[in-house]
Amino acid sequence: MQKPCKELYSKYFYDEEGSLLFEQICELDEYYPTRTELSIMQQHVQEIATLLGPDCLLIEYGSGSSLKTRMLLDALQTPAGYVPIDISKELLLQSVASLASDYRGLEILPICADYTSTFRIPAYTRPSARRVGYYPGSTIGNFDPEPAKLFLQQIARTCRGGGLLIGVDLKKDFNILHRAYNDQQGVTAQFNKHLLVRINQELGANFQINQFGHYAFYNPGKGRVEMHLVSLKHQVVRVGNVEIPFKLGESIWTESSYKYTLEEFAQLAAKAGFTVERVWTDSRNFFSVQYLTVQ
Ligand code: AVI
Repeated sequence: MQKPCKELYSKYFYDEEGSLLFEQICELDEYYPTRTELSIMQQHVQEIATLLGPDCLLIEYGSGSSLKTRMLLDALQTPAGYVPIDISKELLLQSVASLASDYRGLEILPICADYTSTFRIPAYTRPSARRVGYYPGSTIGNFDPEPAKLFLQQIARTCRGGGLLIGVDLKKDFNILHRAYNDQQGVTAQFNKHLLVRINQELGANFQINQFGHYAFYNPGKGRVEMHLVSLKHQVVRVGNVEIPFKLGESIWTESSYKYTLEEFAQLAAKAGFTVERVWTDSRNFFSVQYLTVQ
């Protein structure tokens, strides 16, 4: 049976082409999160490294090319190791090779997996090292509240006795959010429609891409930006052997991006067993980097 509201999982945005589009989004004037998080990290990295402490094992959820992590690795005192987790084997192998040549002596333990699945941390030389998770980019915002809690609980179990350094996007003027997800160049629209391109290519579907419109808006009641693809006419799309009817104006919900107040996020963290130890924000309070600890 089809669900009343058509929905696609946002994790399917990120094949090679989708990841490139996302990188382009991160460069856009309107898309403030990446650059704001980077500036917070640049400004406070020494203090962050001191708080994380010496000899910690850094575990990164969704490490990608590990580029942002270098700043942290440079500042950390004698890290016990680095565990990058990513679903893309190619990306993981590339980044491990380049990290290994730049950080000689650093124990690198890559895990190729969907980071929300259950996996074991491989054995490492200093087993008593404190584990610290790293989850930048406010990707936590792409989880609905219940799955967000469950995922944070999973990190809490892995990092018991240590902590989690996490990037969290904050609630702000709706117009700024609106612009961030409706850029003038239409890169976000292309990113959104890329889901349909993938379904056409990989599942032999016949979506007419230009017959769907990118629609992103902030839903203040739910505290999230919603991204949809809206059917611009009455149409029937074939995916394999299945025919899917769309009414004019009917949408496919493709992504949610939750925005938090500091209090809301502290509550979510507490439900997962974390305590907020320290929060760094930018001068406009657009974004936060937070260090959470878990007993
Ligand atoms: C990856 N994630 C945090 C981005 C966000 O802002 O929710 C994905 C994105 N979607 C549209 N623009 C960026």
